[in-house]
Amino acid sequence: MANITFGMIKPDAVKKNYSGKIIDMILSAGFKINGMKLIQLTKEQAKQFYLVHKDRPFYMELVEYITSGPVIALALEKDNAVQDYRILLGATDPLEAADGTIRKLFGESKAVNAIHGSDSDENAKIEISFMFSNLELVS
Ligand code: RTP
Ligand code: MG
Repeated sequence: MANITFGMIKPDAVKKNYSGKIIDMILSAGFKINGMKLIQLTKEQAKQFYLVHKDRPFYMELVEYITSGPVIALALEKDNAVQDYRILLGATDPLEAADGTIRKLFGESKAVNAIHGSDSDENAKIEISFMFSNLELVS
């Protein structure tokens, strides 16, 4: 499925009330929202979600950050969704992100960077299944 991706507005951006502006940018870029919810992740859920990073030095810092407040989980649909969404996010480090991208506008630092996006079609499917039940998704 090359037309879906998973997005997540991270706790820093939710706390600073950037969610509305970010969702507007996502919709304006042509994405359809098939699922959306505000959720407080547990430490165990966050560890599982970021398991791919378990050996990286920032793993526990990332788990602490992503559980520091509610996140908004988004199931998104668009042609070429994964790639187009990552272009909209910008580089991981807001200082390196292109002008007009979400991380450039709203990110604080490489670690605290406002938003998540799946990095492959395979991971998009895994992440959407992790965060949403079928009942919570439209198509
Ligand atoms: P994401 O998964 O959140 O969309 O971000 P990404 O692909 O651009 O970056 P990735 O390498 O997958 O890293 C996942 C998240 O870990 C935090 N991070 N901290 N302290 C650091 O050096 C560092 N590097 C990455 C960020 O929150 C990043 O989005
Ligand atoms: Mg990533």
